[in-house]
Amino acid sequence: MTNAAPITDRIDDPESARESGRQKIDWAREHMPIMRALREEFETDQPLAGERIGMAMHVEATTAVLTETLAAAGAEVAITGCNPLSTHDDVSRALDAHDSITSYAERGVDDEAYYAAIEAVIGHEPTITVDDGMDMVAAIHDDHPELIDSILGGCEETTTGVHRLRAMDDDGALEYPVFAVNDTPMKRLFDNVHGTGESALSAIAMTTNLSFAGKTIVVAGYGYCGKGVAKKAAGQNAHVVVTEVDPRRALEAHMEGYEVLPMAEAAAKGDVFVTTTGNRDVITAEHFERMDDGTLLANAGHFDVEIDLDGLSDLAASTREVRPGVQEYELSSGKRLNVLAEGRLVNLAAPVALGHPVEVMDQSFGVQAVCVRELSGTAYEPGVHDVPDDLDREVAEIKLDAEGLGIDDLSDEQTEYMGSWDHGT
Ligand code: NAI
Repeated sequence: MTNAAPITDRIDDPESARESGRQKIDWAREHMPIMRALREEFETDQPLAGERIGMAMHVEATTAVLTETLAAAGAEVAITGCNPLSTHDDVSRALDAHDSITSYAERGVDDEAYYAAIEAVIGHEPTITVDDGMDMVAAIHDDHPELIDSILGGCEETTTGVHRLRAMDDDGALEYPVFAVNDTPMKRLFDNVHGTGESALSAIAMTTNLSFAGKTIVVAGYGYCGKGVAKKAAGQNAHVVVTEVDPRRALEAHMEGYEVLPMAEAAAKGDVFVTTTGNRDVITAEHFERMDDGTLLANAGHFDVEIDLDGLSDLAASTREVRPGVQEYELSSGKRLNVLAEGRLVNLAAPVALGHPVEVMDQSFGVQAVCVRELSGTAYEPGVHDVPDDLDREVAEIKLDAEGLGIDDLSDEQTEYMGSWDHGT
């Protein structure tokens, strides 16, 4: 395995990269009132003084704001990417210039360099981990179990990471506490739904310069992300087809007015396919064979296994890049299928992708920040933990305040009524 060095040692013209990254981070912070409020509190209280935080996240501007907020709370932070294609090198460089932050993230690295960078972060001997997809927790358990006793806990950002952690916990293999940040209302109802809906579609549009209006968009998986993609695609005048394996989610999609079909039938109808299942082999050879010439294939799920690219390569007579971020596979029949961003999550891995809108990440990372603060102050048992509801509410209240929105308070009588069982007709 290669030894990873901080990004500053590896990119050309680090100075101008630092400036461009700094500009992106400053813009993001300007639109992240939750992070600004928490940073003010953290600077005063220094809740993370003495902690070392290891992060594996999509390294773009909003993540940088979280990283700097944790550093402002007194922590030493080491960070790398959680996907080989989602890092913004200029942002990574700007982070690495911070006295208390070391960044190993670099875009376009191969598997070996990707895992070497995770190793390098672990080399800082983190006391708290922050993951998006669970790769760091896995590497610590597999290769550095000696660190586990000194780890207070971790935070997990995404659905796939939480699934993996719960599976690990069920097997009795998870040896430190991890908060399922993904599962909070403040994260999942906004980030997964609106964030993925908006950013996946805009990344597809910017990558291809093609319109959704009048097209048929097949959304695989009608979970939180799929709901967002379907809703925003319908809002752009596309005809939406949903594929599912869960009967209740399929019915929900039907009642929202979408067409529901098995993938084998949807394959023949779609112009654009977006997978959002967190599962593997959702679109495979039998489906590719039914698709029309020119079909666009994109994935918004965490890993690049939803579209079976090996199966597509086997069918293809030739392949070439037709635009940055668009790989055309020409089948022996002459039919051409276009895969975006190498089947990696399109809203972060396409060359023009920016990730979720800043306001959405303000909420997700607000929850991350209060969870890290919680781990530094309270001991939790090993295992996956739901985020305490008062922490999620705290973030919601900061956001409401920033938006200038007021809500009502429950009266004592209402509180008593809601908590009683003896008020009948
Ligand atoms: P979810 O669990 O709410 O939804 C997944 C849906 O896919 C479920 O309804 C499930 O029944 C369905 N499904 C599973 N296998 C299927 C198959 N073979 N065919 C059709 N449907 C199938 O999960 P959520 O929160 O929507 O996340 C989905 C994926 O997106 C995860 O990998 C998650 O980590 C990732 N994610 C990506 C983001 C991004 O920025 N692109 C943001 C947040 C999450």
